[in-house]
Amino acid sequence: MIKNDLLLKALKGESVERPPVWMMRQAGRYLPDFMKLKEKYDFFTRCRTPELATEITVMPIRQIGPDAAILFSDILVVPQAMQVEIEMKPGVGPWVPNPIKTAKKVDEVIVPDVKEELDYVFQAIKMTKQELNDEVPLIGFAGSPWTILCYLVQGQGSKNFDKAKKFCFSEPIAAHRLLQKITDTTIAYLKEKVKAGVDAVQLFDSWGGLLEPKDYQEFSWKYMQQIITALKDEVPVIAYGKGCWFALKQMSQSGASALGVDWTCEARNARYLSGGQITLQGNFDPARLYSKPQEIRYMVHDMINAFGKDRYIANLGHGILPDIPVENARAFVDAVKEYR
Ligand code: CP3
Repeated sequence: MIKNDLLLKALKGESVERPPVWMMRQAGRYLPDFMKLKEKYDFFTRCRTPELATEITVMPIRQIGPDAAILFSDILVVPQAMQVEIEMKPGVGPWVPNPIKTAKKVDEVIVPDVKEELDYVFQAIKMTKQELNDEVPLIGFAGSPWTILCYLVQGQGSKNFDKAKKFCFSEPIAAHRLLQKITDTTIAYLKEKVKAGVDAVQLFDSWGGLLEPKDYQEFSWKYMQQIITALKDEVPVIAYGKGCWFALKQMSQSGASALGVDWTCEARNARYLSGGQITLQGNFDPARLYSKPQEIRYMVHDMINAFGKDRYIANLGHGILPDIPVENARAFVDAVKEYR
């Protein structure tokens, strides 16, 4: 059905003439047209208006040409639907005016009817699918429960999310209650996204690597696995964990169709740790897009040679940075498309 089905083939482990390519945060601030919309509408207005979300999602497809679209939205729309107030503060990023610090606060967080609270997301998916006209697949996503907890407890972005860890280790029962509420909401949310038309989903565990391996099991992976188990028979799931190379073996046995890796884990190690069979996605250092286009091309070809063309999805190891020249982003995508 979908004309460019490279991503779907790679997710099934089928052989391809070249790997598919997309970039995390490909609909973002490095695109001048995105910045024009950003001047007119604040962040969550862009997320909540299906016409704007559609326009932004399709922008990189037309301007850069990756093999998949990812819906413009945010992982934080889920806790918003759970009645936690969250803003996007210019110059600060995510901002929670009343962070969750106590068990009592956790009790106030609800598991909402996602169909009602997040209807705007499902409308955006339907509109985007129409606009894409089956040219490329559409990826839906959610944050991992741990990564969402990080923002809800810390109240904003952080290098080490120390307050989030403090809460988990000093109030573990409450922390687990919160993680389970986020998990239940996320499962319902992703199932509705699938019904609305997404072709694959990615779980972003951006801060999983801040936990030591045992704590990662307890506070992150346990919940990731619940989500994967609930979704895997309906849609291919990509599990991305930044800094989570130590968990690749377990992730490879989870039912996920692909695993995202960051640039600190070499292709060879990622293949070894994940057992050599599962599709891997990644792992170009986003800062390497500051290199000259010709150098980007060489490095991308090296990356594909290292991972192999099959069971592989070319991507960055984390989101694209806001000040990357558009031509460098295009060089990254073109380099994969030129690969023979
Ligand atoms: O990949 C895509 O282009 C799809 C859209 C997408 C966004 N956020 C749009 C966005 C996706 C997949 C996300 C996921 C997300 N959001 C994550 C996980 C992935 C990751 O990069 O780690 C996280 C941790 C968030 C929370 C969040 N939202 C942060 C940390 C920020 C950046 C704040 C800042 O100012 O630096 C956001 C805002 C955000 N989400 C932007 C975009 C394009 C930029 C802000 C803007 O346009 O106003």
